[in-house]
Amino acid sequence: MSEQNLVGSMTAAINEAKESAMLAIRSTADLAGLRALSADLNKKDSPLNSFKSEMGKLPSVEDKRSIGQLLNAAATEIAAALESRTREFADSEISARIESESLDLTELLVQRRRGHSHIVTQATQRLEDVFIGLGFQIAEGPEVETDFHNFEALNMPKSHPARSEFDTMFLEYGEPNSVLLRTHTSPVQIRVMKSWKPPIYAIMPGRVFRRDTPDATHMPVFHQIEGLVIDRGITFAHLAGTIEAFTKAFFGSEFTSRLRPSFFPFTEPSAEFDIRRADGEWIELGGCGMVHPNVLISGGIDPEEFSGFAFGFGIDRMAKERHKVEDIREMYTNDLRFLRQF
Ligand code: PHE
Repeated sequence: MSEQNLVGSMTAAINEAKESAMLAIRSTADLAGLRALSADLNKKDSPLNSFKSEMGKLPSVEDKRSIGQLLNAAATEIAAALESRTREFADSEISARIESESLDLTELLVQRRRGHSHIVTQATQRLEDVFIGLGFQIAEGPEVETDFHNFEALNMPKSHPARSEFDTMFLEYGEPNSVLLRTHTSPVQIRVMKSWKPPIYAIMPGRVFRRDTPDATHMPVFHQIEGLVIDRGITFAHLAGTIEAFTKAFFGSEFTSRLRPSFFPFTEPSAEFDIRRADGEWIELGGCGMVHPNVLISGGIDPEEFSGFAFGFGIDRMAKERHKVEDIREMYTNDLRFLRQF
């Protein structure tokens, strides 16, 4: 074989060996296969490596150099292909691992909707804050009451006509008509008088019950807040001043209050109190008056030594007024579309 032919055939064989190595690299399916292939290609007797020993057969230095350069170029190309294919596999294996081992935390990024207090609870809490600011303490009494606390001790003996105004719900418990669902928070006045010592500055919020058919302005279950002050020398002026101070603190300084003569068996004199909005409209809020001497006696307090005033009003109506709720029944249907507005 002439020298030129030898160089030519070696060149062709080297290119062919290189091409088949490149093809093998491209068709390897995974990292393990690629590692095995790489080991094969690097073996001393691998097709390309075997040319290195055959190079010695070439007589001229120039031929040795050109075949040597061709072999080096082929080796470099193969090494580069091996490396890039290895990286490809490694990347996709890492992605696959990340994919399979990752925890989906997107749920934690979703903002949870937090609940909030019902508007009647909000109103009660604001009322409590205002009265605490005026120096009052909070007291509570039971929702199931005795006839004694709800009526008798409040100067409403059995025959009293005012009892019928309360549309009372009685429980089948004990003597007939002796246990009931309290119709107002006033019975808590008696409980506070009996368990605390004057001076008493107390508010008593809570749920009350009346046999009423629900309509836009009435519910058979609603909320009241009662106020009771017992001290030496308490007069009607203190009552009016307290109502006015409360009105301004709770509704705003543009509001004023007024008292209208009224009647309650447990206060004497008695009044209704109204508040006046900035636009001049009057809103009825509740009842009040000087604690009747008979009530002080029921509470174990000497009317010769102490006097006091009491007031009571509905909380639901205030929440309704404040949030411009058309129908008070909406406040108790537990419809989230309604409740979430506030
Ligand atoms: N308890 C009365 C009612 O429910 C309100 C009231 C309380 C009036 C205290 C006077 C004094 O109508």
